[in-house]
Amino acid sequence: MRHLLSIDQFDLQEAEDLLSLAKKLEPIARRRMVTRVLEGAVLANLFFEASTRTRISFDAAFCRLGGAVSDTTGFTFSSMAKGESIHDTSRVVSGYADVIVVRHPEKGSVAEFARATNVPVINGGDGPGEHPTQALLDLYTVKQEFARVGREVDAAHVVLLGDLKYGRTVHSLIKLLSMYSGLRFTLVSPPTLKMPPDLVDRVRARGHKVRQVDHPAEAERGIDLLYATRIQKERFTGEVLEDTSPRFQVNKELVSRVCSQSTVIMHPLPRDSAAGANDLSVDLNDDPRLAIFRQSDAGIPVRMAIFAKLLGVESLVLSEVRPAKWMSPECLGPEDAPFYTFK
Ligand code: NCD
Repeated sequence: MRHLLSIDQFDLQEAEDLLSLAKKLEPIARRRMVTRVLEGAVLANLFFEASTRTRISFDAAFCRLGGAVSDTTGFTFSSMAKGESIHDTSRVVSGYADVIVVRHPEKGSVAEFARATNVPVINGGDGPGEHPTQALLDLYTVKQEFARVGREVDAAHVVLLGDLKYGRTVHSLIKLLSMYSGLRFTLVSPPTLKMPPDLVDRVRARGHKVRQVDHPAEAERGIDLLYATRIQKERFTGEVLEDTSPRFQVNKELVSRVCSQSTVIMHPLPRDSAAGANDLSVDLNDDPRLAIFRQSDAGIPVRMAIFAKLLGVESLVLSEVRPAKWMSPECLGPEDAPFYTFK
């Protein structure tokens, strides 16, 4: 694998191997150990769309492997504002960096970056296309959370909810989850924001059950994973939300109606936290089933594993660790203690 552009490049074994490496890198992600295995290497982090988690976690993951980061954010401060093509930008940056992460508003644009260079290119989100590294960290989180409640990914009932048309995280995630066997997917979205039909066909062709509904209350009980997403209004091309009530809001009331004690609740974030938004409500913040911050934390070990693999240091990364010298908190958030199994 030279570039990481799509979940289509993986089979289940490869994805699971990558996540096993990520697990082994947790002591570095948790700031107990350090490595300098990528000392001297440079990451170019090119973000032409808004980002907090993805940009910072790629950056931090690379730094924690000992590398350095150069970045550019938005079109305004890059030469793309002067009309420079993707091809030229990619080839130029290849002269400066050893790996390139790109987020860009057009589907297929990151693959275009990759065609212009031999330096590894990672897709950090190509418009409504894919977000493969998010799906990998989502699977990492799902496996971790499921292990706690004693279940496997095979045969799970997964509810994907929200904007399934433009939400790139769910496009990559459904591809990755459908590598397992016998899942039941309930896809909950407004009729105008349904999962692309080719993806639904593909999931069915792999033998999974798929049900599409336009109201969360229609999801059958026995939900193992409830994965909510933000409505991607900035990507709308004429769609109108005919119903403006917060009917896709995942809140205490909905969760008490459709979820069980062992349901895992996830969201790629950011969420719209305004009252009445069609998004994951803050009223669930104290609910231990809400895994959103454990999910965002997973961005570090998973992205470290991706860099280690693409830059060929998987076998060195663990042999070169030493204890960290600075102090860091035992667990990252006040509500994390019960989940903090790592010592
Ligand atoms: C998402 C994205 O950018 O696709 N966020 C992320 O990377 N974690 C989701 C979104 O923007 O709604």
